Amino acid sequence: MPVAIEVKGLVKRYGRLTAVDGIDVAVPSGTVFSFLGPNGAGKTTTVEILEGLRRATDGEVRVLGLDPWADGAQLHRRIGVIPQDFRFFDKLTPRESIEYYRALFGSRADPGHLLDQVELRDKEGARFDSLSGGQKQKLGLALALTNDPEICFLDEPTTGLDPHARRSIWKVIRTLKQQGRTIFLTTHYLEEAELLSDRVAIIHHGRIIAAGTPADIIRAHGRPPRLRFDAVPGLAEYFAQHLPYRVGTEAGRIEVELPDARAAAKVLAAAEASGLPWSGFETAQDRLEDVFVRMVGAMDEGALRPEVAP
Ligand SMILES: Nc1ncnc2c1ncn2[C@@H]1O[C@H](COP(=O)(O)OP(=O)(O)OP(=O)(O)O)[C@@H](O)[C@H]1O
Ligand SMILES: [Mg+2]
Repeated sequence: MPVAIEVKGLVKRYGRLTAVDGIDVAVPSGTVFSFLGPNGAGKTTTVEILEGLRRATDGEVRVLGLDPWADGAQLHRRIGVIPQDFRFFDKLTPRESIEYYRALFGSRADPGHLLDQVELRDKEGARFDSLSGGQKQKLGLALALTNDPEICFLDEPTTGLDPHARRSIWKVIRTLKQQGRTIFLTTHYLEEAELLSDRVAIIHHGRIIAAGTPADIIRAHGRPPRLRFDAVPGLAEYFAQHLPYRVGTEAGRIEVELPDARAAAKVLAAAEASGLPWSGFETAQDRLEDVFVRMVGAMDEGALRPEVAP
């Protein structure tokens, strides 16, 4: 698969602050890549270097084979961008905004079609300052698509949106992928990253601490699956005495780690054999968010070193 974005040893310094500290990223064409990390980790800095809006301090950056800083004019015709906290002219309507972008890019995209694609047709004549947060983001997406881009850079496109509005942006992102476009997404919603992305990278203090498919990262850094029970007096002790598995408590509930699939049957058999009134049984599996919170927390405590992405 051809590579749409390739970054090697990227460094960005602002004075004495090293915001991006030697990262490597490769995004194959036609895939969705999510860049995750806490506030101030270096995501927007990286995205804007890829877009040719900020200049790298060091390292190699290629986007569609171009150097974003040196070949910006060429690149900007081929990419679509929603900046973090997208804003636009208050007095323009969505239709006028798209017309304006069409003129800028010499694009022949049909404004009605773009507005349909982002589900904003009903607001085509409303002024920007009267749109809701989600409607503004949808307009941002429509503008990003006006020049039929090969790569879309979406910096937190769903921040602050209600669950329904977020899902409608997800739908657009899936459609963009089906159309063969490459998506570079940043988000603080880990569930969203897990659902949409082919690959993700977690950046913290300017360094990548994990990278791969969401499943790879969960497998490599997550805890084993667990069975949970309500905390019944004596049950945790019974499990600890009668099972060869790790037993703990989380949020006031008992958790038994399952090293393999057969372990679940043994745990349930032990619950029955205990004679105790066990209840509230459910399975627990780490999601990307659990892994993210634990890894970032461990790094902040100095217990984890940044690793080279697989
Ligand atoms: N123009 C700038 N001048 C100086 N420092 C900057 C500049 N832009 C960003 N920084 C600093 O670089 C670091 C990374 O910022 P960046 O905006 O890339 O983070 P981010 O990962 O996008 O965070 P968020 O999730 O909050 O959007 C922060 O410490 C920030 O204060
Ligand atoms: Mg940012």
